[in-house]
Amino acid sequence: MSVRLAPSILGADLAHLADEVARVLEGGADLIHVDVMDGRFVPNLTFGAPVVRHLRRITDAPLDCHLMVEHPEDYIGPFADAGATILTIHPEATVHLERHLAEIRRRGMRAGAALNPATPLAAIEEVAADLDLLLVMSVNPGFGGQPFWEPAVEKVRRARALLDAKASRAMLEVDGGVARATIGRLAAAGADTFVAGHAVFTASDSAAEVRELRRLAEAGAAGRMSG
Ligand code: DX5
Ligand code: ZN
Repeated sequence: MSVRLAPSILGADLAHLADEVARVLEGGADLIHVDVMDGRFVPNLTFGAPVVRHLRRITDAPLDCHLMVEHPEDYIGPFADAGATILTIHPEATVHLERHLAEIRRRGMRAGAALNPATPLAAIEEVAADLDLLLVMSVNPGFGGQPFWEPAVEKVRRARALLDAKASRAMLEVDGGVARATIGRLAAAGADTFVAGHAVFTASDSAAEVRELRRLAEAGAAGRMSG
């Protein structure tokens, strides 16, 4: 199983965003994770479609946009126009998950669903076969640099079983507190896509940190395959 690294620009020095992005891509980052917060669904405010539009001008890398907003449907058009590759929304933020996932795909993006720690996998069970990405949150969303929510490892294991049972080829992504100490276990549990903000961007060499996280994830994934 191939692993994907998705550094979150929430952890980057935003005054030097282009350099920060170039550096992690040099380290082999597969996706650039963009945390969109509206100050309502989560208690923090970050950036929106204009930042994605500017990122799209400086890179062809997939832009993995994670919407932590109320009324996510209002943002589908602007993010599609800005050049987002993946658009992930929270079922906790809408009563029309299936409709919005279909609209995301209709607009040419890949569609993801993200689950807060307290939200059961059952919230996406009926749409699992249609997902391009399932994101298991391993912190309560809102801020970078929070401690890892340990039960996420077991939840990832159950998420992998659910996707396999539905014959889904969705990416299984984990987000929050992903670092050297946690990434191997998450890969062993079946995650294949890893968001990391703090761990990557506080490292003295972010490119080297991406490489090291990949090495640990691959080792964890190999353990899963042979175990
Ligand atoms: C959490 C965001 C994460 C966050 C992860 O609200 O969705 O993507 O940036 O940051 P770290 O890796 O610092 O926990
Ligand atoms: Zn995120």
